[in-house]
Amino acid sequence: MNIKNVVVAGGGLLGSQIAFQAAYSGFNVSIYDVNEKGLEAAKDRLEKLVPRYIKDLDAPEDKLKATVKSIQTSTNLKEIVADADLVIEAIPEKLSIKQSFYKELGEVAPEKTIFATNSSTLLPSDFKDATGRTDRFLALHFANEIWLNNVGEIMATKDTDRAVFDEVVEYAGAMGLHPVPIKKEHAGYVQNSLLVPFFHVAEEMYANEEETPQEIDKIWMNAIRMNVGPFGAIDVVGLNTNTAIVQAEYEKDGTPWKKAYVDKNNVKIQNGELGKATGKGFYTYPNPEYETWDIPVGKKPSDEHLQQAVANDNNGVLSKLLLSLFKAAEDLYVNEIAEYDVIDTTWHINSRSPIGPFEMMDAIGIDKVIEIHEKYDNNIDQDVMKFLESRRGKTFYS
Ligand SMILES: NC(=O)c1ccc[n+]([C@@H]2O[C@H](COP(=O)([O-])OP(=O)(O)OC[C@H]3O[C@@H](n4cnc5c(N)ncnc54)[C@H](O)[C@@H]3O)[C@@H](O)[C@H]2O)c1
Repeated sequence: MNIKNVVVAGGGLLGSQIAFQAAYSGFNVSIYDVNEKGLEAAKDRLEKLVPRYIKDLDAPEDKLKATVKSIQTSTNLKEIVADADLVIEAIPEKLSIKQSFYKELGEVAPEKTIFATNSSTLLPSDFKDATGRTDRFLALHFANEIWLNNVGEIMATKDTDRAVFDEVVEYAGAMGLHPVPIKKEHAGYVQNSLLVPFFHVAEEMYANEEETPQEIDKIWMNAIRMNVGPFGAIDVVGLNTNTAIVQAEYEKDGTPWKKAYVDKNNVKIQNGELGKATGKGFYTYPNPEYETWDIPVGKKPSDEHLQQAVANDNNGVLSKLLLSLFKAAEDLYVNEIAEYDVIDTTWHINSRSPIGPFEMMDAIGIDKVIEIHEKYDNNIDQDVMKFLESRRGKTFYS
């Protein structure tokens, strides 16, 4: 791998974490930001990461302090990228801002420099032409709190050179991440492709008053032994952010449950119940109720445990949650976007789950997976069903 000198463009929430993690892993790192105010804020963020690495990873303080010190900063793009092997862009998620940044970067960066965008919702091909080097441009997507949620999703456009893709996969590993190679451009990468439908099915059941958030979380945590259910997770994201996303979707697609969900959450939001950050959301904090449930969280459920949970699923809550995850995972795999083990690893790490979707399918058996589709899937994909039929009697893992 030729990557040694890394420039992170944009020292905001994610950019500062990316720079810190890269420098901590031994790379020469600099941060570029649009103005001095941006750089000052970035330095403050870097300092604040030190206690987080100590608390969460038990990392040595002297190494962390040396990491902060080692990171150079500048507002002069031409100077900072003069010997860059890789520029990781983490500037605001707005197409026009990204386009003008890449136009300028393409003009001043040496030929050798690889450009990687951390964009979450825009696809790299939306602004690849502005880079002037589509063969050396791709997405390298990080998750918030990257020292814990340490996956790096690598996604090429159809123009990206294969050797560049492989080099960035290697780089992601070298900066302490689990690389998630994504073989074709796909909105939402792997993690959000799994997570968004999973949240939606829980939100829909709550909006339609089929079950309470606590009961939905309990059913999920009992079966899967994750340390949190969908509503506990929404409390961490924040009800304001989560509700704004569903509201924006409702404005586009008009789905009735989304309106009901937003209305319910708005009552909480008006009462200042924004989730963990304000001490109250679906749960009260500290010591949310779900931590008192007698569930051996983090311990991989046995096949028998999961089979039993599915067999006892009289109200369909577990089956619907599983189905949302299976459908998303099957879609990624059948359409050759990512391998099944890569999909499982992503879910393991970012969702702190002791079991991934394909492992869940192996545990309950393909016949049961097909049965769940037939009973609860309102939008059956015939290609996926053909694929599942072809898997009868087989497992994904040996
Ligand atoms: N926030 C997340 O959880 C998250 C997760 C994954 C990916 N991302 C992606 O990372 C990118 C950045 O998100 P963020 O949350 O860190 O944003 P942020 O607003 O916290 O930071 C953006 C930074 O870019 C700087 N900036 C603005 N214009 C610039 C320019 N022209 N050139 C250089 N720097 C400029 C700002 O001063 C700021 O420091 C987005 O593309 C977002 O989709 C965010």
